Formats: sequence, C-alpha cells, structure tokens
Amino acid sequence: MPGNIIPEVLDVPLPSEARTRLTKPLEYSGLLDTYQNSDLTPVIGREYHGLQVADVLAAKNSDALVRDIAVTISQRGVVFLRDQDVTPQQMQAFMERLTTLAGCPESSGLHVHPLTEEGSELGDQISVISSEKQKKGGGLTHQLSDTTRLASAGWHSDITFEPVPSDYAMLKIHTLPQTGGDTLWASGYEVYDRLSPALATFLEGLTATHEAKFFHEEAARLGNPLRTTIRGSPLNQGPALEAVHPIIRTNPVTGWKSVYVNRGFTRRINGVTKDESDVLLQYLFNLVTQNHDAQVRFKWNKNDLAIWDNRSTWHTATYDYEAARAGDRVCSLGEKPFLDPASSSRRDALRFS
Ligand code: SIN
Repeated sequence: MPGNIIPEVLDVPLPSEARTRLTKPLEYSGLLDTYQNSDLTPVIGREYHGLQVADVLAAKNSDALVRDIAVTISQRGVVFLRDQDVTPQQMQAFMERLTTLAGCPESSGLHVHPLTEEGSELGDQISVISSEKQKKGGGLTHQLSDTTRLASAGWHSDITFEPVPSDYAMLKIHTLPQTGGDTLWASGYEVYDRLSPALATFLEGLTATHEAKFFHEEAARLGNPLRTTIRGSPLNQGPALEAVHPIIRTNPVTGWKSVYVNRGFTRRINGVTKDESDVLLQYLFNLVTQNHDAQVRFKWNKNDLAIWDNRSTWHTATYDYEAARAGDRVCSLGEKPFLDPASSSRRDALRFS
C-alpha cells in the first residue's frame, strides 16, 4: 500500500550496488561536432547524419565517442541516427558500452522485460517491437483499447515499475508503413522548469509508487510465464512489478532535475491523500501531453534509430496505421533514482554556463 514518504529514497544512502559511479556530471568533449547534425526543437531532440553505430563500436577512440554520445543523449533527451547498418547484437554491444561509460552501477546490465518469452527470437535482452504482436494485445497498447480514445494515454518512461529502472533505450525500426507510426518524446527537464518554485519544492519532498500489474494479465493472455528471475539487476526480480521513486530525480550525467512520474506506470503519490495524489498526477501528466513545445515528433525512415534517456524523457508511439511496423529495442538499466537537492534545473544550468 502506498504510505508515507519512503525514507530510503530521500534520506538514507542508496545500496551501493545501485548507485551511479559518477561523482560529477560528464562533460562533452566535442568529438561529434564533425558529424552533420541539427536540433529538432529548442528543448529536445538532435538528429545526426553519417554517424553509424557500427563505426563507433569499431573506432580507435570508441570509448570517447560513446561517452560524448551519452552526454548528448542525456542533454538533448533523444538522439536520432538515420539509416543505420547495425545488427541486433551490435545494438546490444553499443548499449552495454553506453550505460557503462555513463556510470551505471556495476550490478546494472541490459533489461530483460517481464513479458520476454523464454527462447525469444533475438535473445533475452532484445525486445521485438511488432505491430502484429501488439494486435494480440501486448505492451502498452491495452491502454488504447476500450478504456480511452485519447492517443495521449500512451505516454510513459520505460519500465519505471522496476526498482532499478532504465537509463537509456535504443529502438531501430526496420519495417514501417508508408505513413504513420511516428514516435513522440517529451522533456522531463522542461516539464520540471514549468513548475513554480513552490510546487517544485513541495514535489521534491515526495515519492510516487509505480506498478505494472497489468503485465500479469498480459502474460496470461499471451500464454507466456512472466519473467520473475533477475531482470538485468539483482534488485529487479520477483512478481511484484512495483517500485517507489522520487517524483523529482537528478540525472547524474547532466546534473539536471527532471519530473519522474508517467501515465503508463505511476499510480500514487505517497504521503498525501488519494484525492490529492490524483489531482497532482493528472496535472503533471497534463504538463507532458499539453505542452507540444516540450515535445519532439519523429518520422521514421527504414533503419532509422533513436536512443533516448529514460530518466529525463517520456515517449509514446502512434497507432495510426494498418500495415506492419516492426523493430528491435534494447533497454539498459541505470542507477536507483535519486534526488540531489543541490542539482539544478536545465534552464538554470544553461543560463549560468
Ligand atoms: C516504445 O514505447 O518503446 C516503442 C515506441 C514505438 O514503437 O514507437
């Protein structure tokens, strides 16, 4: 039952196995400036042309390049790499490097989704995103069936029901309809910056409970047992699919504060009444969905790839097409979410830099 503020999250030291290895934010060294790039909006999204994940993996200065990519993703929220010639195994290798160089705890690896079937086609750590599978009722699409006609119901950050949730995720779309199937991302830094100082301070003292019990129903419907063994971190196991996280978290790579609740998985703000929790959560969800200037909408071409920071963004798919759409997704685990009260907002950090 959601109750009072959970002291472990705000006051007591985090278990060392789930703590970021960074002692200060990472600095961008400038290595990506030689690639053609453009910011898709002022606050979120950058697109690169000519930057191939496979080349980065093979480069002599691979670690330095990957570190700069991590900083760029965490600062811009999401990075788009056009027309990638990359295998699922290379995607996996890249994500392992990315999360490690961005300071993930030793115990954090790539996530195994609770719905991943035993013997799944590309291995445990690669989720196949497939409209054909979703037609059978998988993933978050259940929210768009008979409960709502609002496409905005799908906004979420990945796997926030895990005690150690995701830092980064990578998605490559290789099969797509002629039009439609866009993905949208929104900036958690920007939504934090739209709170009044009074509300921000209030929320900084609170936690929220995230859960995904609906995956039990989906596993039963799909006829697959739910994964209850270790899902990428020893802290992520068992059938509970529930976690308590601070409402405002610090991204250790940038040192910036972000709002960390989402429509997909956050059920309850703790330490306030249910009515207060409902009103506050709805207000925060509205800030995500109703501020289109905090969002970026990406039109996929075949083999385009997106990498985003799940600590500081939300995303949603668009189910407006009939033809098949499919791709591969890899999701890495970061640190147990924390708030450093001394960390800054994105706008303040950029203003004073
Ligand atoms: C996701 O929610 O991770 C998938 C997004 C998409 O299919 O566009």
